[in-house]
Amino acid sequence: ASDNSKFRVPATINPAAFSPFSPPPWAREEHIVLQKRAIDALVSLGADPVMTCAPYFYGYAPSEGAHVAWAESSAVTYANSVLGVYTSKESGPSAVAAALLGFTVYGGLHLDSNRQPGVTIEIHTEMKDHLQWGALGIWLGRTFGNTIPYIIAPDVPDTLSLQALASALPTYGGPVLFHMEGVTPRIHQVRIPTRRHVVNAQDLAAVFTEYKKDFNKEPDLLYIGCPHTHPEYLRVLPMSSRIKTLIGGPAACTHQMCLSGGCAAVARLPSGIRRIGVDSFKAAFYMRSKGYEVNVLSRDEIISILEE
Ligand code: F3S
Repeated sequence: ASDNSKFRVPATINPAAFSPFSPPPWAREEHIVLQKRAIDALVSLGADPVMTCAPYFYGYAPSEGAHVAWAESSAVTYANSVLGVYTSKESGPSAVAAALLGFTVYGGLHLDSNRQPGVTIEIHTEMKDHLQWGALGIWLGRTFGNTIPYIIAPDVPDTLSLQALASALPTYGGPVLFHMEGVTPRIHQVRIPTRRHVVNAQDLAAVFTEYKKDFNKEPDLLYIGCPHTHPEYLRVLPMSSRIKTLIGGPAACTHQMCLSGGCAAVARLPSGIRRIGVDSFKAAFYMRSKGYEVNVLSRDEIISILEE
């Protein structure tokens, strides 16, 4: 691109490790400088430095049927499956190229023919909170790989549960699209697969057994907001000076414990941390891969730890 190139369509920036404009106290100066360079370059092209992986909660929900070029897997899955948007899973460079050109490749999940489900999933167990939906995402990804599921659930899940499913599914090997009755727009256009599978309580219990570790003590750190959560949830979260808490949020996040514009999967964490409590299976995946001991906690469990 030439020096006066500009994005031709609205573009937002995904989380960095942290916002260089409000870095956490333990951030290194050289990392602040490098992040600022990358963000300044995107802003000079016209991107909004909202720095979130949930732009649909923060003023950038494309309208149903729109074609976009998003790169963050949980956002891509949420957009395709809940908002009824068309997007393939772009890489960072291909998303930047699409923003510069104002076009993206008319292939992949932009074509209805590539969005057909391959297995019908009937849920025969109570789905009591968003963690259950995250566990379903893991189970589907591991069991059916890239096959697109057509999900029939007893109740329509809430927004945070849909986000939990959308983030866990591709993290554990699944596709960046699911269809769910009562949720996915234009669902009548897809063929309901004759291959059927019932999900029962034991299937999901096995996931929890694997991820529900008992530290015998409190975690050293609570990490919330992977993907970045809905602002309403942040408002009800109690604050605690007793236990270290970090919340992944957009650059505009002013919550006291916010890793503003950041993502703990990328960021360095404060030293001395070994055990981390998370409220998401995507966060669990990344924190484990960084060598931490991880315990997956429900929102209620997190709130009760913070309120102690
Ligand atoms: Fe978002 Fe980072 Fe999690 S980009 S989905 S907070 S891994």
